[in-house]
This record gives sequence, C-alpha cells and structure tokens, in this order.
Amino acid sequence: MDLTTAQAWLKRFFALIEEHKAYLSELDNPIGDGDHGHNMARGAKAAEEALQAQTPTSLEGLFKSVGMSLLSKVGGASGPLYGSVFLAFANEVKGQEVIENPQQLFAAGLDAIVRRGKASVGEKTMVDVWSPFVEKLAEGVSLEDVEAMVLATKPLKATKGRAAYVGARSIGHIDPGSYSSGLFFKAYLKELA
Ligand SMILES: Nc1ncnc2c1ncn2[C@@H]1O[C@H](COP(=O)(O)OP(=O)(O)OP(=O)(O)O)[C@@H](O)[C@H]1O
Ligand SMILES: [Mg+2]
Repeated sequence: MDLTTAQAWLKRFFALIEEHKAYLSELDNPIGDGDHGHNMARGAKAAEEALQAQTPTSLEGLFKSVGMSLLSKVGGASGPLYGSVFLAFANEVKGQEVIENPQQLFAAGLDAIVRRGKASVGEKTMVDVWSPFVEKLAEGVSLEDVEAMVLATKPLKATKGRAAYVGARSIGHIDPGSYSSGLFFKAYLKELA
C-alpha cells in the first residue's frame, strides 16, 4: 500500500464513520455515555481538514497528521487511543514509500492502544478486535472475519473504560470502539481488494 492508497483507505474510513455516526453513539448509549459516534466524527472531520490544508507527501506525514488531529480534537477515551495508533503507524513507516509490513504496522497500533489504555483481551474494548485482527492478518483476514470479531464483543463483560461502570449490564451489547475499529479494518481490506 502506497501513499495514494493509504489516503484512500483513511478517506473511506472517515466516510464510514460519518455514515455510522448515529449507530456508533447508539451502541455507546447502554454501556457508556452515547458520544462515540460524535467523538469519532469530529475526529474524522478535523483530520480531513488538516489533510486538505496541508497535503502529506509521505506515509509518515499522513499518519502523523491524522494522529495529531485526533489527539488534539477528540475528547473521550477514543481520541487519545486512535491518536496514539496513528502516531505509532507514523513511526513504523518512517522512510517507507509503501507499507512494507502491514502486520507489523497493525501490531504497533495495537501496542499503542494497550500501552495507553492498559486493557487486555476479553475486557470488552477495541483491543478485542485489534488483537484477533493482528493475529489473523498473516494468514489472510476477510470482511466476514472482521464482522465476527466485532460481534464477539457482545457477550463480554466490560472491565475497562466507562463501560466497566455498568458491569454485568454491559453484557449483550457490541462495544462501540470495537465497531469503529471494525470499520477501520474493513476500509483497509476494501482498499486492498
Ligand atoms: N482502556 C481502554 N483500552 C482500550 N480501549 C478502550 C479503553 N477504554 C475505552 N476504550 C474504547 O473506547 C470506546 C469508547 O470511546 P468513547 O469515544 O465513547 O469515549 P468515552 O469512553 O465516552 O470517553 P470519556 O469517558 O472520556 O467520555 C469503548 O467502546 C472502547 O472500545
Ligand atoms: Mg462514550
């Protein structure tokens, strides 16, 4: 994946966020504060504006710009988490004209999420989608696989983040951050196809 394709990937992701904004906030209602779609859409808009104001000339520049926009413009847990993903991506692709090792890239993103949020697998956070996605990437992962990973957060009980406050009542709801992460991976897979 080169700079042009990576730009198309992120553009597709931002469009999916906008399209699913209401649903993402709806998912956040029963187990959080109902703002996930709003948070993500604000981040997507800020990132797009920054990219328009200054066109990136490298993969590193692209990811850095998006990361900074998300960190500075998005409140809530998801801003710093996604922001640190993109800054980790920027660090990973330094000097690369194409993404040389996608698995390493996404593993660095996962690592950034875990370092910042301290969640492990099974705590009903976006880690529950990032972790299996990174694991499956080497053997090949499909859109259906991503869908299944997102749905698998439904029976989990939240023990991290705002959703942990509702405890057992978080069971039976898809985790909003996992859903938006699913959109991120689907946009990536579609852009590669
Ligand atoms: N510690 C964590 N590690 C990984 N992901 C997390 C963590 N805490 C929350 N998340 C993810 O963030 C999502 C919620 O994002 P959202 O934008 O709604 O922020 P928020 O929880 O409302 O933040 P705040 O409480 O600061 O308003 C969750 O669905 C979950 O996937
Ligand atoms: Mg929220």
